[in-house]
Amino acid sequence: MLTPAGIARLSVYTAPFYLDMNDFAHARGEDADKFHVGLGQSRMSVLPPDEDIVTLAANAAAPILADMDINRITAVLFATESGIDQSKSAGAFVHGLLGLPSRCRVIELKHACYGGTAALQMAVNMVRVNPQEQILVIAADVARYELGSPGEATQGCGAVAMLVSSQPDLLIIEPGSGYYTEDVMDFWRPNYRDTALVDGKYSTMVYLTALKNAWEHLSQSRQLTYQDFARFCYHLPFTKMAIKAHSRLMKLCGLEADETQLDAVMGHSLAYNRIVGNSYSASLYVGLASLLETDPADLTNQRIGLFSYGSGCVGEFFTALVSPDYRQHLYTGRHQQLLEGRKRLSFTEYLAFYHAFGDVERSGNLELPLHTNGRYRLGAIRAHKRLYVDQQGTSAS
Ligand code: CAA
Repeated sequence: MLTPAGIARLSVYTAPFYLDMNDFAHARGEDADKFHVGLGQSRMSVLPPDEDIVTLAANAAAPILADMDINRITAVLFATESGIDQSKSAGAFVHGLLGLPSRCRVIELKHACYGGTAALQMAVNMVRVNPQEQILVIAADVARYELGSPGEATQGCGAVAMLVSSQPDLLIIEPGSGYYTEDVMDFWRPNYRDTALVDGKYSTMVYLTALKNAWEHLSQSRQLTYQDFARFCYHLPFTKMAIKAHSRLMKLCGLEADETQLDAVMGHSLAYNRIVGNSYSASLYVGLASLLETDPADLTNQRIGLFSYGSGCVGEFFTALVSPDYRQHLYTGRHQQLLEGRKRLSFTEYLAFYHAFGDVERSGNLELPLHTNGRYRLGAIRAHKRLYVDQQGTSAS
């Protein structure tokens, strides 16, 4: 009998600025319904120059650590595809900023948007082997495309921090996933670029192929059917993608995909992403937080199906059981305050943030004025070293 392992806490953070898709449509000369209806997005979070994946991650993890003895954290598994250094792990910066114990392992993981799930599964298996482990799984990303490209409408940024332990107050991750890998060029970012390249339409087709194969693997190996699930969460590059994915799943299961059914089983998972945009490795878990925090139904003991997709590509379909009293361990009020409290940027301000990094690569020096109201910020880059600031303390890391 395996030790139950899963998610005890789930905290979300995103930048305190957003671009409204009406303003975006107006500036780009497009019909706003293309974004609201066609992609299912109404806002996108915009990263200020004094935040990056490290500050997104530290700001996401802070509420979890405030409620526990941080010396119990035994590992930090940090997933991202927006790496800030080819060598030093972003987790090491986070470890320093959060004052975590030195008896702790830290690693950065990458496989496009699938990295968060790889980190979660790794953590769950570590806990199954040693129930004393208390692992901080972090997924943080900044979705950034060329200005004026089709991908620009699907930007966003965000982080999730999850405490994984043998006391899974929110969700037990069940053993046995369905998975699929294929070497494809649907979305990629070579080391010399700061924006992603994407074959947009092809990427949506590969996503659906990975879903079909991962579902077939899962349903065959564990004899699960559609009726064994109460809710579904999907990787969310834009919310319409998840609606297409779920319609495909229902067809695969021989069911008619009607709007009422779609809304009931996955509608609440879309609410946060619709106003945050893509957060790559974090987006599935932003969707999970949205489901647990906005679905009025009591999901206790219900099974959730989760589909994780990472371009390149890997898909994994896995399952989780919702724990009793899960609502007592959510950060619902905090998340809703964060999302509602963001400042709306004009299109000009959005462009200024987009270009703020200038030619730092050559000089290795940049002083960053204060923009964010997040606790942790990037204060400067000096001699190619990133200097972070805890705004509630005096320390720079
Ligand atoms: N009213 C209502 N709907 C409208 C409309 C209007 N006025 N105008 C257009 N639409 C609809 C279109 O019909 C289309 O819907 P369908 O796909 O259902 O046909 C939708 O709006 C989008 O319109 P286009 O196809 O014309 O949009 P586009 O070509 O400009 O780009 C995109 C769309 C390919 C998704 C692009 O935004 C993109 O490349 N995004 C980045 C890649 C991405 O997110 N891929 C997802 C799968 S890969 C992945 O998941 C990993 C990841 O995180 C990146």
